[in-house]
Amino acid sequence: MTGHGRSGGHPPPPGVADERDPAPVDPAVAEEFLRQVHAETDPGTTLTDRLRQVRAEIDRTGTWTQTTHELVFGARIAWRNSARCIGRLYWQSLQVRDLRHLHDPADVAQESVGHLRAATRGGKIRSTMTVFAPDAPGRPGPRIRNDQLVRYAGHRAPDGSVVGDPGQADFTDHVVGMGWPRPQPAGRFDVLPLLITGPDGRSRLFDVPPDAVHEVPLRHPEHPWFARLGLRWHSVPAISNMPLEIGGVVYPAAPFNGWYLDTEVGARNLADTDRYDLLPEIAKRLGLDTRSVRTMWRDRAMVELVRAVTYSFDADGVTMADHYSESERFLTFLAKEEAAGRRCPADWSWIVPPMSGSQTPVFHRYYDEPDPDLRPAFLEPHGLRPPAAQA
Ligand code: ARG
Repeated sequence: MTGHGRSGGHPPPPGVADERDPAPVDPAVAEEFLRQVHAETDPGTTLTDRLRQVRAEIDRTGTWTQTTHELVFGARIAWRNSARCIGRLYWQSLQVRDLRHLHDPADVAQESVGHLRAATRGGKIRSTMTVFAPDAPGRPGPRIRNDQLVRYAGHRAPDGSVVGDPGQADFTDHVVGMGWPRPQPAGRFDVLPLLITGPDGRSRLFDVPPDAVHEVPLRHPEHPWFARLGLRWHSVPAISNMPLEIGGVVYPAAPFNGWYLDTEVGARNLADTDRYDLLPEIAKRLGLDTRSVRTMWRDRAMVELVRAVTYSFDADGVTMADHYSESERFLTFLAKEEAAGRRCPADWSWIVPPMSGSQTPVFHRYYDEPDPDLRPAFLEPHGLRPPAAQA
């Protein structure tokens, strides 16, 4: 997904397993998934044996173990079903790292770092997912509390202002409260530690080594002063707090990444007034008249900020999409889905780019309504804190 729309604030949908005590898998849901894999990937074979096996395993254990083929297929379909993602044309290229045997937070942290390295490839970013242990009755899987593997701290000053990413101020307060040594002096781009909860409900912090965090220093093709602002952004957006559900099995830790779209960084992360809020400063340097909104200084500054982002990623050889090409590709994806006879839900408010929307074709139409029951799927993010232990 690309994250143009509003974020956060949704309660988990009903039916999502309780974090401390995962519910058994509904055999009907497992069966529906097996029929889907079969229909889409090997319609020539028979399914009877596999159905019987899986039913027996659910009867015995309350859950079931997917084959690598089923897991990979499920992960790719979850992406294909993500109504908010404009980048879904490439759903079949998702690389899946099958680490379902890992439960321990230290292992999850180490392989989350491994995920970043495998996905980054010196800037030739590859869409990647790492799947850690699933929830099972009596044994919840691990959870990554960070919303992405790489995020910049938001350091709250006594006067309420924030140095860094205000979107991460609550998370930053939380990890500082747990003992994370806040960098001194507090910087605008300090990478946060990973906060990981184990099957026992205990959470631990792990640093992300700097050499695993690929970043792009931002500069502008025409304005030398831009580089002196000292702005940067990380190369890989890796969502880490959305559980993956396949065939009734929930994988609470299944971080996944694509590559950035120009506007995510330039028109949202660095521009939103409740994020880095950089447009006033950039407008001032551009010499724009900021006294009236009617000079459109915000619009003009935003264009130059997004240009700087795209220019810098391109110059450093880091994969980045632009909102024009990606909109075209999204329509190609929709046409393919339609040709395959599938419904393809999309959320207009997330698909349409946050700048110049009407200049892209995705603006000028409507889409199938998002369907909360579509599976496999990524579920609503789990919260920052594990639920309090029961008294
Ligand atoms: N919008 C989020 C961010 O700016 C990233 C969401 C995922 N984006 C993507 N291109 N896969 O960090």
